[in-house]
Amino acid sequence: MIGLEKTKNEYSELLQRISNRHGVKELAAYLEKHGFFTAPASTKYHLCIEGGLLIHSVSVAKLALKLKPVLLPDAPDETVILCGLFHDAHKVTDGFSNKTYLKNEGYGSERQPYLWNKEQLNFSGAQKSLLIISKFIGLSRDEMQAIAYHDGPYVPSWEDIKNDPYPLTLLIHYADMWSCWILERNKARLMEGKKFMEDV
Ligand SMILES: [Fe+2]
Repeated sequence: MIGLEKTKNEYSELLQRISNRHGVKELAAYLEKHGFFTAPASTKYHLCIEGGLLIHSVSVAKLALKLKPVLLPDAPDETVILCGLFHDAHKVTDGFSNKTYLKNEGYGSERQPYLWNKEQLNFSGAQKSLLIISKFIGLSRDEMQAIAYHDGPYVPSWEDIKNDPYPLTLLIHYADMWSCWILERNKARLMEGKKFMEDV
């Protein structure tokens, strides 16, 4: 797939920056073994393609790092990279050897290249990410909040934190949403706009 090698290199560089943290190498190896490089980012929405999750995860980590000096300058880079790269760990596996997404071999007009694996642990996605990451890494309170609640108001668990969301949670949430909706999903639309302006 075009661009995936470049994205893998960017992932390796980001991973290298946090590799001194206890458990990071083991977490990365575990996720890579279970399909981190091949999983899609969704069943039929943004980046529902092989490698989509890798592209998305790198995008969120890079964008969160760009936003950090403005919004949260005191947050360690390590924390921002860790949460950005692995907030969607649950999209690889449920932590019990079940893949999260299965290829929809017979797909046609319904335009859904992947299906949820119904055998996987029935548990909220973001909180499943927290479970998986916590098996390998001792997370701070801010990191736990950010990983478990990065979906913000898009999921019912927002009720748990809506009156007092942690700053890191909002930073990761915003980087996640901007990546999904603007950088990934609407890229074609933006490019169409550019072409229109060039034509004028
Ligand atoms: Fe995400």
